[in-house]
Amino acid sequence: MKRGLRSRLAKYGDEEFALFLRRGFLKGAGYTDEALDRPIVGILSTASDFNPCHGTAGRLAEKVANGVRLAGGLPFVFPTISIHEAFSFPTSMLLRNLMAMDTEEMLRALPLDSAVLIGGCDKTIPAELMGAISADVPSIVIPVGPMLAGRHEGARLGACTDCRRLWAAFRAGALDEAALNRAHDQLMPTAGTCMVMGTATTMATLAETLGFTLPGAATAPAVSSERMRLAEATGARAVEMAKAGGPRPRELLTKAALRNASVVLQAISGSTNGIVHLAAIAGRAGLSYDLDELDRLGREVPVLVNLRPAGEHFAPDFHAGGGVPALWRRLQGHLDLSARTVGGETLGDVVARWPAYVDEDVIRPLDNPVVAGEAIAVLKGSLAPQGAVIKLAAATPALCQHEGPALVFDSLDDLERRIDDPALDVSPDHVLVLRNAGPVGAPGMPEAGALPIPKKLASKGVKDMVRISDARMSGTAFGTVVLHAAPEAAAGGPLALVRNGDLIRLDSRGRRLDLLVDEAELARRRSQWRPPEKPARGYARLYVDHVTQASQGCDFDFLADVGRSAEGAPQGR
Ligand code: FES
Repeated sequence: MKRGLRSRLAKYGDEEFALFLRRGFLKGAGYTDEALDRPIVGILSTASDFNPCHGTAGRLAEKVANGVRLAGGLPFVFPTISIHEAFSFPTSMLLRNLMAMDTEEMLRALPLDSAVLIGGCDKTIPAELMGAISADVPSIVIPVGPMLAGRHEGARLGACTDCRRLWAAFRAGALDEAALNRAHDQLMPTAGTCMVMGTATTMATLAETLGFTLPGAATAPAVSSERMRLAEATGARAVEMAKAGGPRPRELLTKAALRNASVVLQAISGSTNGIVHLAAIAGRAGLSYDLDELDRLGREVPVLVNLRPAGEHFAPDFHAGGGVPALWRRLQGHLDLSARTVGGETLGDVVARWPAYVDEDVIRPLDNPVVAGEAIAVLKGSLAPQGAVIKLAAATPALCQHEGPALVFDSLDDLERRIDDPALDVSPDHVLVLRNAGPVGAPGMPEAGALPIPKKLASKGVKDMVRISDARMSGTAFGTVVLHAAPEAAAGGPLALVRNGDLIRLDSRGRRLDLLVDEAELARRRSQWRPPEKPARGYARLYVDHVTQASQGCDFDFLADVGRSAEGAPQGR
């Protein structure tokens, strides 16, 4: 197999000429022949002025490159698209698959022997893992790391749990604009990813658990020297992987590794987005993600990591308290410790050598959990035949068993138009339903599932209501919120048939979500239903034509694994 600069030559019908041309251009860029004979490590940088969470990505890439050079390799930094939650219209999820395709095709096209993937903000690590698994090039992830927590008037503040809390208080009239603005200055005090247990921290923790990072890499603060040293060590490890030709992503992504990820997702009370991303990541390796197993594990595994929004602390505290390997040690009775990591060790090897210190309040022992269990539950029923999820750890217990009349919003625009209408006919017992906000309907399944409490109720002190949608929810959010109802309304799922006043029953204990309308009436409504119009052209059209439902990860149907040739290359390429 050809390595380094001699690999993946452009097709001119003359390989020697293609190599001659490539070397010529690199000489033109100032490289010597000696340098060009070294193993090549591609460093995927997601530095972008439009991605403030990745403000340190450029410096990280330099540190990775330094590690590559120290270990005798040749680093090449290259870009892919970079996605930030607040800078992606209409929603970052619409672009995740595009970034995964960009990653996969660059890893396949460039003459690199291994790759270092720099990611962090919510969709970036899932996209990188999806692309790397499909390309199956030896790859190692270095997250950009979490922000430090802010401090304001004696309290610690966290993005974005406190962004939501402060905004809700402002909407309810409990906080004036000046006070809101003072706190605003402290919500994102450094570069890095949101430092609560949002999607970024969840996905970095899962990437470490799946074995795709060096130990400790999920949680070291973005602006710490430790993060920079981890980057250098990651670069050095990538050279070893380049020389050995592995481990490859598909060697790491096994059924056991996915089950471990589900255990950890429950124990950290992670973002529900993690479920969608794990399903997509599994699909790239030809595996299916087991939602029933996730639900079962939720009944066995308590929430141990005490981070907001379910707990009190922040990601840098998780790191100082022992980090992800200390959590693995707590969970060793639930994990398969023989699962491999990209560093060459098993999870068990890492647990055995990891420092014994653990902060008992941040990473709780099994007999003193943050929440006794059931962080995330999977619901089925007549309103979600293919499943829906609820984060019980962030819900109001009294609302988790609830029956109430539906108040339906047909789209995000409809929600925006009417939610604060003083004439809205709504009581705290109502079940707020948002539809056409799923993968096809929005399109892109935005994080709109935590519908705002109608102002007329919020101003009277109502803080939570049952909310149901085919949308997603930020991992930093909280409330009694049922998400990912599948099939979604725009695909003809039962959510499309709900009318104002229909009774809906949420039975979290029984894992049921039901629309209490008889089948004959539903059949009548179904016969009148028409699918929404599709986007006329471009990526949005590709997206709605090929995106799968949440339970399959919202990946494109044509990107799922289709088997491999004897040489390990994907079939049909
Ligand atoms: Fe980037 Fe939260 S917006 S991690």
